[in-house]
Amino acid sequence: MSTTLPASPLSTKADLPPLGVYVHWPFCAAICPYCDFNVHLMHKAKGSPADWLSAYRQELAYAQGLRPQGPVETVFFGGGTPSLMSPDLVAGILSAMDEMWGLAPDAEITLEANPMSAPEPHLKALRAAGVTRLSLGVQAFDDTALKFLGRTHSSQDARVAFEAAQRIFPRASFDLIYARPNQTPDAWARELSAALELAPQHMSLYQLTIEPDTLFYKHQAAGKLTLPDEDAAADMYEITQSLCTRAGLPAYEISNHAAQGHACRHNVASWQGGDYLGIGPGAHGRVSSLEKAARLSSVAHRSPTQWLAQVEKDGHGWAEEQVLDGESVEMEAVLLGLRLVEGVGLEALADRGVHLEPARVTSLREAGLLSSDTTRLQASPAGRLILDHLIGRLLA
Ligand SMILES: C[S@@+](CC[C@H](N)C(=O)[O-])C[C@H]1O[C@@H](n2cnc3c(N)ncnc32)[C@H](O)[C@@H]1O
Ligand code: SF4
Repeated sequence: MSTTLPASPLSTKADLPPLGVYVHWPFCAAICPYCDFNVHLMHKAKGSPADWLSAYRQELAYAQGLRPQGPVETVFFGGGTPSLMSPDLVAGILSAMDEMWGLAPDAEITLEANPMSAPEPHLKALRAAGVTRLSLGVQAFDDTALKFLGRTHSSQDARVAFEAAQRIFPRASFDLIYARPNQTPDAWARELSAALELAPQHMSLYQLTIEPDTLFYKHQAAGKLTLPDEDAAADMYEITQSLCTRAGLPAYEISNHAAQGHACRHNVASWQGGDYLGIGPGAHGRVSSLEKAARLSSVAHRSPTQWLAQVEKDGHGWAEEQVLDGESVEMEAVLLGLRLVEGVGLEALADRGVHLEPARVTSLREAGLLSSDTTRLQASPAGRLILDHLIGRLLA
């Protein structure tokens, strides 16, 4: 692999990718035993809604100094549980973005929700605040599994919330976690079939991963939790692909399935190496700055209290802000681009200064792990099954 410095030649506005903004809301009503996101208990949150709005606004203004060119095409309120935010706070953040960059008239504005904080009037107020796409954390349509996952809602609660979301928002999606302990491929096929009866246009289907520093990790280490073996997990992955494809929701990314035209624009843009500002505690950002003629990465302080204090002091809560070098840009372009089923165009990669070693690409094509399309870097179905191995061989 060759490296090029600077990472991407940025000189005019035309060189800039469209702009997205990720806003992290770090609070949840309860912490799930599998989750290692930057999450904190809501009842211990410090700061009033006005303090939070002021801090988000200040960080947005700081980021605007680095990338003033708009408009904002996509916004993603992720968490944590952003459905615990007040609609006024959501509206205030969106109006700050509109003042600073302009929000595109067809902007996609996603908000992640938990069924326990998604009663219909609240969803309507979030829609009125500007949210266009709701992503609901369902996790399982099986009450025993929900209890095991530490969830405080039933599958019926999730169904009611999703049906309301389908009525209220132009777009709605839900998340499920499969390959859970004791789950058989047949049981997953039944559960996924029942989920598909809700006629979703988008679903995120994740295999359960056991993350360090979670309660499940401790349980696994103590021998109290065993995941399905590799064969069973591979069967569940195949079932997922075939049931979803048959229902008209093929995968467009490793864990994401959508009907034609319903992929999440924000996430697709970030997997394609687009620009997104990371706002809020623990948020990561990637943004091209004409002012600095470079692509920058940012990481904010994870602790909500520390983030609030730093924003008050410095006008932003970023703990790191770095110029990405050519090697990092290449590594990310490959890691993220290969997650997408359509892969990423080699010409688009070259425009960003990424030139992969032709011999290595050819040998992976010959091994059937990359598709034979010579204009793209695209994993084949066999390559997607062993993506980490494929990426290792490309970047070794
Ligand atoms: C921010 S949460 C979604 C919204 C909301 N917080 C909720 O849980 O209802 C993002 C999603 O990541 C997935 N997730 C988190 N930890 C996971 C893990 N260890 N294995 C698989 N999926 C996981 C869950 O499906 C979860 O819905
Ligand atoms: S899965 Fe969702 S609700 Fe559970 S801890 Fe993670 S972010 Fe919070």
